[in-house]
Amino acid sequence: MEVVIVPDAVAGGELIAEAIATLVRRKPDALLGVATGSTPLPIYEALAAKVRSGAVDASRARICQLDEYVGLPAGHPESYRSVVLREVVEPLGLGEQSFMGPDGAAEDVQAACEAYDRALREAGGVDLQLLGIGTDGHIGFNEPCSSLASRTRIKTLTQQTREDNARFFDSLAEVPHHVITQGIGTILEARHLVLLATGEGKADAVAHAVEGPVAALVPASALQLHPHATVVVDEAAAAKLK
Ligand code: F6R
Repeated sequence: MEVVIVPDAVAGGELIAEAIATLVRRKPDALLGVATGSTPLPIYEALAAKVRSGAVDASRARICQLDEYVGLPAGHPESYRSVVLREVVEPLGLGEQSFMGPDGAAEDVQAACEAYDRALREAGGVDLQLLGIGTDGHIGFNEPCSSLASRTRIKTLTQQTREDNARFFDSLAEVPHHVITQGIGTILEARHLVLLATGEGKADAVAHAVEGPVAALVPASALQLHPHATVVVDEAAAAKLK
């Protein structure tokens, strides 16, 4: 695992956007796995700026979601489908046909999960998967004690994660209790994993993930098992690394 310490979130976003641009120049139809939440926004802004300036042509790139709330209608502004369309797909000038994600509104959620794993495989696999990290060490929404071999499935959000995500909704009561998330085993199949963590609130989770034992209690520690994982942290999030 490679750990890169950058001064701040903007520098982290720029570094990772350049890595994505390099990938897309080499492989124009690369499949890029995207995370939601606040952390990756500087990456998406920096990448969109590169597209606008002509520094990279991302018109053939493909985008796939890491996770999705269960029970929110697809058009809900906080469904991850809506968020990824708004923050990634549209700013990159791509259309909905370049984009795939799990169906959080499906009647048969289990079938939707299996269909998504299958779709990822049939698309040739994820070339670069962006990840954030939860304060409890989750990746995607694989909360502590998730199997390190897990596949895409439905998970129950912890109270902590629902509270962390309540800022995107009008009230805590509106935050869904369930999500579909790529499993840790699914995530580990991506060719390159890139995790960005910023801010002092992530310092404990980063230290456990990077320097602690590989354990289901810290899902992000599974990155230690991957042959090509890059962890980009700002100085605040790196504060508890030895
Ligand atoms: C969401 C996801 C989550 C977030 C994590 C951190 O798609 O994958 O694992 O990355 O909850 O969220 P932020 O970045 O908002 O602190």
